[in-house]
Amino acid sequence: MSKNTYYITTPIYYVNDVPHIGNAYTTIIADVVSRYHKLKGERAFLLTGTDEHAIKVAQAAGDKGLPTKEFVDGLVEKFKQVWASLDVQYDDFIRTTEPRHINVVHAIFSRLLEQGDIYKGEYQGWYCVPCETFLAESDLVEGKCPECGRAVEWVQEENYYFKLSAYSDKLLDYIESHPGFLQPEFRKNEVVSFIKQGLRDVSITRDNKGWGITVPGDESKVIYVWFDALINYISAIGYLSDDEKFNSLWPADLQLMGKDIFVRFHCTFWPAMLMALGLEQPKTLFGHGFWTINGEKISKSKGNAISPAKLADDLAAESGASRGVCLDAVRYFVAREVTFGVDGDFSIASFRNRFNSDLANDLGNLLNRTLSMLNKYFDGRIPDPKGFSGGLKETIAQTAKTAEEYCDKFEFTRALEAIWQMIGAGNKFVNDMKPWELEKQGKTDELAGVLYSALEVARAAAIMISPFMPATSVEIARQLGIADEFASLTWADTIAGNPFKPGTKTQGPDPIFPRLDTKKKVEAVKLEPKPEETPLSEKTEETISYDYFSKLKIRIAEVISAERVEKADKLLKLQVSLGDEQRQIVAGIAQYYEPESLVGKKIVLLANLEPAKIRGIVSNGMLLAATGEDDRAVILTPESDVPAGSKVR
Ligand code: MSP
Repeated sequence: MSKNTYYITTPIYYVNDVPHIGNAYTTIIADVVSRYHKLKGERAFLLTGTDEHAIKVAQAAGDKGLPTKEFVDGLVEKFKQVWASLDVQYDDFIRTTEPRHINVVHAIFSRLLEQGDIYKGEYQGWYCVPCETFLAESDLVEGKCPECGRAVEWVQEENYYFKLSAYSDKLLDYIESHPGFLQPEFRKNEVVSFIKQGLRDVSITRDNKGWGITVPGDESKVIYVWFDALINYISAIGYLSDDEKFNSLWPADLQLMGKDIFVRFHCTFWPAMLMALGLEQPKTLFGHGFWTINGEKISKSKGNAISPAKLADDLAAESGASRGVCLDAVRYFVAREVTFGVDGDFSIASFRNRFNSDLANDLGNLLNRTLSMLNKYFDGRIPDPKGFSGGLKETIAQTAKTAEEYCDKFEFTRALEAIWQMIGAGNKFVNDMKPWELEKQGKTDELAGVLYSALEVARAAAIMISPFMPATSVEIARQLGIADEFASLTWADTIAGNPFKPGTKTQGPDPIFPRLDTKKKVEAVKLEPKPEETPLSEKTEETISYDYFSKLKIRIAEVISAERVEKADKLLKLQVSLGDEQRQIVAGIAQYYEPESLVGKKIVLLANLEPAKIRGIVSNGMLLAATGEDDRAVILTPESDVPAGSKVR
């Protein structure tokens, strides 16, 4: 099989601590790119993972008094939880302690040794543990690591070397003849000057202190963590084990990382390793900038290592918006605020301002006002427009084209700007056309055209923002009455392909972005609870505060109708009543309950769980059930009758 899938990688993160907004940034952008390609109808594959053999990882475990493997196993779970809570849809997660990785590292080491790219020598020099980098005397700045400014340690060991110096000219030639290879352009120039200064061979082993991948045939040594780690990009996708898979993915289309690990590791060492292996180079290596928080460098010791999940939780608690929407606000902010590639500042004030201006005022307003007017004038049904008006059709088509061009060039800020200009044009059109006056004048056709066109803008926006704001776009689709078809829409459907069907019944409006009080004094950014506060060694069940519990909206609901979901033998689709509101939910109980037996039953519903799509069907809440014998689901019902909508507390 030949290459047929867009392949994106993030760096694999050191598991010496939980992820912060900096690590999350790379991963969120990678997720945006992957979703964007899937939205265009292409195959995409996103790889992330953890880099576990670093000395600093073993040291962090030692500090906690834990065996290193136990320590990393605990943190890996934390990483996975954070990515899940950020709605990151990775296709594989590689851990460098997995046999599938270790086997490939061994095979590569042996092959390069055999072909002379690796040789044995004596290393004398400096090593920076925080950066896991070998440094020469001339690299040091005032005796400290040039990258992180911290103290370095002297190392004198018999080591194996990789012949990096042999690749200088080949690397320069490749970089010069492949313009899109290293991005952004100004970072490419840094790489070129780094290589031109002269490349030294790199030591690729350390003495074995009990943690790391041992050198094949030489147990006294472990392989240097960067040589091991870079190989993840190919070991995870079947290099030397699954040719078909490997060939369908390699070369990677986009390898993302921060500027800290761009020049030396990803643009010099990694391409040289690939050259030695006779493999193609990735199409693009992209080194993005670094975030500061409220103007300060992100650092655990400063206590500003902001956790995006926590930011979203706090925002949800303050605003009443769903957690998914608040998380999307974080995703939107990081993609919108700073040009991808350069450094940026995560100021909480700017974040809150963007929430109010871009999300509540622009996007939210367009949806709310058009849906309200649709309720008022057309009973909430999309009218037959008899044509678009106000040039909005052209605006949408042009925006789809422009935003696509920008996304393809990794210019996410500009792509979002273009989409927001379209939203602005929709709002302006409604202001200018004054639908309420058209109604008074009895100009029903014109009124229909105006509302239809404005709603088409909202629909196109929902599709275009879906890679950036997945939960929000699903909620917009629900309110627009196109929830069922939304998952199958593609970028091309923004306009010509699949316009609104007249007669579609819309929902709501249920305002998605409640405005924030910008005068409110914002609390200092809080840290993700530190590992010390939640010891990984203790396998106790986490407790939650009453305050946290009180945020759960658990209600009694009455089942109005129930039916099986086609081609899903475990799922039932239920319509339930909460007294003043009707909901659709999907529940995995079809093996245990006949749909008819549920009608009229009172069930317990977690009502403020963010809407999810299950097999293309929107589920707006979760039925609660106990796990009975043989794992069967046993639904909960109130002991005596209470009205639908009653609170459960
Ligand atoms: N384990 C190595 C990578 C090996 S890849 C084969 C590593 N890990 S790390 O945990 O330190 O992650 C570094 C990456 O986290 C950066 O390259 C960048 O992608 C991200 N960021 C860390 N801090 C950041 C900011 N303050 N701002 C933006 N991104 C940052 O290096």
